[in-house]
Amino acid sequence: MAITQTIETLDVTVLEPRMKHPTIFQWFDKLKGGEAFIIHNDHDPKPLYYQLLGERGNVFKWEYLEQGPAVWEVQISKLTPEEGESVGELVAKDYRKAQVFKKYGIDFCCGGKKSVKQVCAEKGISQDELEAELIAMDQAEKERDAEYDKWDLGFLADYIVNMHHKYLREAIPALYEYTTKIARVHGSRHPELVEVVKHYTNVANELEAHMPKEERVLFPYIKQLEEAKKSGVKLEPAGFGSIQNPINMMEMEHESAGGEMERIRELTDNYTLPADACATYTVAFKKLKEFEDDLFRHIHLENNILFPKAIEMEKEVLK
Ligand SMILES: [Fe+2]
Ligand SMILES: [Fe+2]
Repeated sequence: MAITQTIETLDVTVLEPRMKHPTIFQWFDKLKGGEAFIIHNDHDPKPLYYQLLGERGNVFKWEYLEQGPAVWEVQISKLTPEEGESVGELVAKDYRKAQVFKKYGIDFCCGGKKSVKQVCAEKGISQDELEAELIAMDQAEKERDAEYDKWDLGFLADYIVNMHHKYLREAIPALYEYTTKIARVHGSRHPELVEVVKHYTNVANELEAHMPKEERVLFPYIKQLEEAKKSGVKLEPAGFGSIQNPINMMEMEHESAGGEMERIRELTDNYTLPADACATYTVAFKKLKEFEDDLFRHIHLENNILFPKAIEMEKEVLK
């Protein structure tokens, strides 16, 4: 597609059904930041919005030019890097990116509201080099996820319980002891530790209530879906309606837990130890960081692999 100032229109109605979404994605991928195209359709293309958001992230603007009933037109613009995701948002979505930013001395907590382009300009870092590292990281992650992707959903659910829920149940009381102890001993000189305990207690309580819901309601239902799919036996609708309902709730709780961890990371300046930190202080920060890493991995497996596949499976089984 030639890069021109005029905005081209893609008439989706004349495309073969199986070619509609791939063609739109092709057009989108060819756009440079700041460019746009229009899709012309005979119904609301909202599902495409979610697909684009899921697969490309928050890197586009979606504007309705016409909203039916017969004609639907949407202008899709690709955001420029400075309008695109901020460093903080990138880290919130994938905490491993924090390592890359840290390596370049980029603040992704309090100053994380700036875009990659802005911070590179300010720090005199090559944006290409930084982006190449971020992309390589995405790639490595995709390869790792490809493994989980092959697993049966029931097996993945059991893996999450045996690895991550088990970890949390052990880590929660131990970390509570560490954080309250350092707040008691060092709280007068480091008042932020008192705040850390508050946020840590919030996230610990939330997760303790969250895990049984997955273990007793959602995961058993996912296993039932899998059974029904294998055996072909009809499954009675669940008491909670569509699986989307408990999943929405779980995702909201994940977001809240992530928010608490973000506050802790801000308060501790990304787990930076002060000069007067004692051994317990050091262990507490190390364990908090480990807790965060495990939690993000855990949430990633649920939000990005288990849940979307379970939603698809339910559609298949109940159709
Ligand atoms: Fe979980
Ligand atoms: Fe969860």
